[in-house]
Amino acid sequence: MANEIKKILTGITTTGTPHIGNYLGAIKPSLNLAKGNNHGSYFFLADYHAIIKNQNPIEIKKSINDVALAWLSSGLDTKQSYFYRQSDISEITDLSWIFTCLTSKGLMNRAHAYKAAMSTRSSEDEKKITMGLFSYPILMATDILIFNSTHVPVGHDQTQHLEMTRDIAMRFNHTFGNIFNLPEAIIPTTENLVPGTDGRKMSKTYNNIIPLLCDEKTLKKTIAKIVTNSLEPGEPKDFNNCSVFKLFSFFSGMEEIEDFKEDYRNGISWGDAKKKLFLQMNEKLNFVRENYEKFRKEKDLVNDLLAEGAKKVRPQAAEMLDNVKKLIGIC
Ligand code: TRP
Repeated sequence: MANEIKKILTGITTTGTPHIGNYLGAIKPSLNLAKGNNHGSYFFLADYHAIIKNQNPIEIKKSINDVALAWLSSGLDTKQSYFYRQSDISEITDLSWIFTCLTSKGLMNRAHAYKAAMSTRSSEDEKKITMGLFSYPILMATDILIFNSTHVPVGHDQTQHLEMTRDIAMRFNHTFGNIFNLPEAIIPTTENLVPGTDGRKMSKTYNNIIPLLCDEKTLKKTIAKIVTNSLEPGEPKDFNNCSVFKLFSFFSGMEEIEDFKEDYRNGISWGDAKKKLFLQMNEKLNFVRENYEKFRKEKDLVNDLLAEGAKKVRPQAAEMLDNVKKLIGIC
């Protein structure tokens, strides 16, 4: 539907260093989706989700700043969208408790992240799993529902969380009255999966990332580490399932991709292929680096923008919480 109201919302958990996978898989598509959408775009830092995975205050603080810089340097316009820290909107944690009271334990038992952590089902596992990890999907559902968002761009691994979000919304709507939209996930196709330096999906868990905010030297060094096969220069190479080729294609137009295919058929050396990838990425990411340098110089800017963003968006959260409280008889 052309006039369909789209409220786009997505968050990134603030653990680790933002990488090319975050950029291509979450940041860039979300910003594209937000272009020309005037029904609201919400981009936030999931810092309360971060403490589930990381309890090192220095690392958490650094990651919050880095993830904020990644969004801003990639072109997020704080005038056209809402950009905020989850922890600044305490209505989210209020509503999260209300949802916790309505969500069956059985629904949470099925969550992949929890099931993976419970792999051996021993009492040792039980000790390691915090209640934060167990109810992670409830906090995520709250992030989404409190702004009544309709479209949520996320990675493939988050599909189940979106299903749970809809379950929670339906449960509330059914019990107390229809106030929540049932949001949809917007998921990149598998062919858009970004490979890391070892060929698996790029992820901080696999330690195979290419950082988004780095200098040329680091970018070059990281690209040099990409695992290839041992074919010699002059031997034709297969561009299918090749991480160097795949990464190149994300940053290139049709013609450049066809030329690179021809190079592979003609037996380009891995050294030269990586050099081509480096030059392409370096050029296409130059604007991110330039913005990054600019933001980094202005010391308080990131915090000021986040504080402003929270101030701007909070009344919407407060209104929704108010409505919910009235419906449940607490007000
Ligand atoms: N769980 C998401 C991830 O790890 C981050 C996240 C938290 C999120 N809350 C969200 C994403 C709400 C989209 C909407 O990637």
